[in-house]
Amino acid sequence: MKTVAGGPGAFAQFDLSRVPSPCFVVDEAAIRRNLAVLKDVGDRGGAKVLLALKAFSMWALADVVGDYLQGACASGLWEARLAREHFGGELTTYSPAYKPEDLPEILRLSDHVIFNSPAQIARFGDLIQAARDQGEQFDIGLRLNPEDSQGEVAKYDPCQRGSRLGFPVSQLRPEHLAGIDGLHIHALCEQDFEPLRRIWTGLELKLAGVLPTLKWLNLGGGHHITRSDYQIDEMVALLRHITQRYGLQVYLEPGEAIALDAGILVGEILDTFDNAGAVAITDISATCHMPDVIEAPYRPAMLNEAADGPVVRLGGPSCLAGDIIGDYRFAALPGPSQRIAFLDQAHYSMVKTNTFNGVPLPAIALWNSDADTLRLVRQFDYVEFRDRLS
Ligand SMILES: Cc1ncc(COP(=O)(O)O)c(C=O)c1O
Repeated sequence: MKTVAGGPGAFAQFDLSRVPSPCFVVDEAAIRRNLAVLKDVGDRGGAKVLLALKAFSMWALADVVGDYLQGACASGLWEARLAREHFGGELTTYSPAYKPEDLPEILRLSDHVIFNSPAQIARFGDLIQAARDQGEQFDIGLRLNPEDSQGEVAKYDPCQRGSRLGFPVSQLRPEHLAGIDGLHIHALCEQDFEPLRRIWTGLELKLAGVLPTLKWLNLGGGHHITRSDYQIDEMVALLRHITQRYGLQVYLEPGEAIALDAGILVGEILDTFDNAGAVAITDISATCHMPDVIEAPYRPAMLNEAADGPVVRLGGPSCLAGDIIGDYRFAALPGPSQRIAFLDQAHYSMVKTNTFNGVPLPAIALWNSDADTLRLVRQFDYVEFRDRLS
């Protein structure tokens, strides 16, 4: 998969020895810059913008997020709890399927509860009514699959053939909309405006009669709005069109766009040797700390990679033969304890870490590149590893 992140930004000047290793370093100033872009799009387009917690959940920055956005969106009960404990504003929750034991709390915590199929809404009708009888106030939404594939990689395409994500729009009947306050469409991944325009053009024809009967339309995430080449004015125009023509409140729930190019993962070289080329073991593991490197797969950009010099294959300390980050050029062969860092690691990597092989979790540090203040927010130790296992 091709990565479309920008450059190092202020991290080009960050002294990597200021933090323990490994460590995620998140730049509050960069997060604020992204949030300001998203707020501008929301304000001009008349849309509400929510943070998708699945991509970025660093609640040390919850107040900062609250300065710009209208709330958060959760993928289930635990993210909904996190949202209510730390993030202000509105909360929408969508999960491909709910458990009956989780739903009452989700209904209590959320402003919008979005279901994946009319069958689930019908099955949970009694629970929904019971929550309302107890005075809980929430809207019910249905996620639609527009059946309009715009993604290049099936793994990241919610409209792939046989997708389990969203109710196929071709199956939608008027009776499915009884009791529905809004529709949810999430069909993009790291994409600019044109794929959204194409999906909307097809969908508008199919839904024109339905849209005025709804309160809101949630256009999900996957919009790379904070990328420097994103067509912001076109997005604003579309949001205004939907709002004005159909009298709907539009929601966006970006995740990656909030933390794009706003964090690095700092690590260090542990050992080097030669095996058909230079090989180095680092305390950063692809499989434990940047699983998308293997899953997507992609090659993360390395901070200040040399233009000339030897190429070294970097990989993690786990037993997985494929725990390889990639091949990188160094000015000279790196030695033990030399620091390195990978760019654009604040979204998804941070929320996906694990302790396979007992590999320690990276610490979390908050840096403000404007003020050059640095705070070590969290360090993890053996106890976090042990207590997950029995
Ligand atoms: C329903 C939903 N909303 C929002 C998002 C956030 O997407 P992104 O981080 O690509 O903006 C996702 C990501 O998978 C999602 O599934």
